[in-house]
Amino acid sequence: MTPDAAVSGPSPVAARGWFITLEGGDGAGKTTQAERLEQWLVDHGLEVVRTREPGGTPLGQRIREIVLHERGHVAPRAEALLYAADRAHHVETVVRPALARGAVVLQDRYIDSSVAYQGVARGLGAEQIRTVSDWAADGLTPDLTVLLDLDVSVGRARVAAARGDVFDRLESEAETFHETVRAAFLAMAGAEPERFLVVDAAEPADTVQGHIRAAVSGRVGVS
Ligand code: TYD
Repeated sequence: MTPDAAVSGPSPVAARGWFITLEGGDGAGKTTQAERLEQWLVDHGLEVVRTREPGGTPLGQRIREIVLHERGHVAPRAEALLYAADRAHHVETVVRPALARGAVVLQDRYIDSSVAYQGVARGLGAEQIRTVSDWAADGLTPDLTVLLDLDVSVGRARVAAARGDVFDRLESEAETFHETVRAAFLAMAGAEPERFLVVDAAEPADTVQGHIRAAVSGRVGVS
C-alpha cells in the first residue's frame, strides 16, 4: 500500500497538497500561464512547486535530451518508456515530497501527454500507455488538469515566432500528428470533465489566466 492510499476522499492527495497539471499542444502558452498562476498562488501565501515533464530532475534532463534531441530513429516503445522513466523518478523525488509538505505542484505536462502523443498519435494504444504511465507514477493522479486548446497551425506559428524554425523531435512531426494529439486531449477532457478544465488558448492571455484562476480558487481555497 502506498502512503497516499490511507488518505480518504476523492483524491488521494487532496488532504495534503494540490496537484495541478497543464496540458496542450506546443505553443499553447502553458509556461506563461503556469508562471502567472504560480505568482498569484505565492501572493496568497502558498508554497508552489513549478515543474515539468520531461526534465523536472537532473536525471530527467538527461532523458529529455535523449527523447527530444536524439538524431537517429527512436523506437516508439522506447520513446514511451523514456517518458515513463522520467516520470517515475520525477514523481517519487519531486512531486510526492512536495504534495506531502502541502505544496501546490504546478506541472507542465503529465500522463495525459503520454496518452495523447505515444498512445494515440504514435499508435501504441491509449489504454496501454495509461497503464504503463500509471505504474510509473504509482497511481498519482492530478486534482485538476488545465487543457490549453489551440489550433495546431496557430501553435506552430507561435513556436516559430518565439524561437525560429528550430523544432525538436516531437515538434517536427507532421501537422496531422499534432491534429491527432489535439483531438486525443479533447477526448480525454470529455471523458473526465470533473478533472479537466478546457480553455480556449486563442483568447488573450489575461482571459485564459482568469479562467484558470477561477477553477483553481475553488479547489485550493483562495479567491
Ligand atoms: P515540452 O516541455 O512542452 O516542450 P517545449 O519545452 O519545447 O515546449 O514537451 C516536450 C515534448 O515532449 C512535447 O513535444 C510533447 C512531448 N511529450 C510526449 O510526447 N510525451 C510525454 O509523456 C510528455 C510529457 C511530453
